[in-house]
Amino acid sequence: EWTPGHVVDDLVATIREQVGEDRVLCALSGGVDSSVAAALVQKAIGDQLTCVFVDHGLLREGEAEQVEQDFVQATGVDLVVVDARERFLEALAGVTDPEAKRKIIGEQFIRVFEQAARDVVHDRGDEEHPVKWLVQGTLYPDVVESGGGEGAANIKSHHNVGGLPDDLQFALIEPLRTLFKDEVRQVGLELGVPEVIVWRQPFPGPGLGIRIIGAVDAERLAILRRADAIAREELTRAGLDRDIWQCPVVLLADVRSVGVQGDGRTYGHPVVLRPVASEDAMTADWARVPYDVLATISTRITNEVEEVNRVALDVTSKPPGTIEWE
Ligand code: XMP
Repeated sequence: EWTPGHVVDDLVATIREQVGEDRVLCALSGGVDSSVAAALVQKAIGDQLTCVFVDHGLLREGEAEQVEQDFVQATGVDLVVVDARERFLEALAGVTDPEAKRKIIGEQFIRVFEQAARDVVHDRGDEEHPVKWLVQGTLYPDVVESGGGEGAANIKSHHNVGGLPDDLQFALIEPLRTLFKDEVRQVGLELGVPEVIVWRQPFPGPGLGIRIIGAVDAERLAILRRADAIAREELTRAGLDRDIWQCPVVLLADVRSVGVQGDGRTYGHPVVLRPVASEDAMTADWARVPYDVLATISTRITNEVEEVNRVALDVTSKPPGTIEWE
């Protein structure tokens, strides 16, 4: 009989047998797959596991805290947080081309993670118990046909073991490789992973960096972060989280339009709401979010985020549009 409890027991036993006394490393992204994989390995081998979380500064409001505080509290995991926000901002300065942004973010991520991995190997390992294993949140659909799944695709390109230097060779543990997404969520709940993480919608590895159309800087990130937080809060309040696949909020940072507020003329930026319905992100339809919810989001964003004076709705399906704007 399939129950999350049985699955956890089986997987824990397998991990213990596989790993023995060795030390294990895991890259946490804040997403469902890496979090549940980490929680499972933590349950199996406790503080033989060290997790590394790279804060690239392109996260949404509250996400770093969800990992640093809530996840650690729920699982007791040994966590190393690398604050790489400055480094990413410097590398991205002035860059507007979407592919260039993705490439820069991916490269910086690998470099920061490599350094953190070296430090963990140095600080946590010893000759008898080397850091020998790397946890990956690969799911069954990714095993069957690689590519596609958001979390795993991200892990593959960002934490690719083949891309690590020769002095860091890890064997892989992929504890979720027999599971589907909904099973991973059940296992996560069973393990006490916070619900905000277990039910998290897809979020791209390059984060808010590809939702600012134009160059990325700290001020623009702060604007987008506030607008995005309001949209997410209202969609959650309306009970729509599980009906929509995700709702990117996109800042058109190089566009300005004239508005009016109080007695004054404004000249601010538009944001675009991109709510989509989808089964697998390969195709998507724009989600019919009720008008009153859209109205509340629009009113709140333009009232609360000074730099934004216009809210637009993206009503394009995929294809021809992709879900993200970059
Ligand atoms: P697109 O924009 O291609 O997005 O329609 C499809 C799904 O994939 C997510 N996405 C990414 N996920 N790394 C990721 O882990 C990425 O670089 C990336 N780009 C897009 C996107 O949010 C959507 O769910």
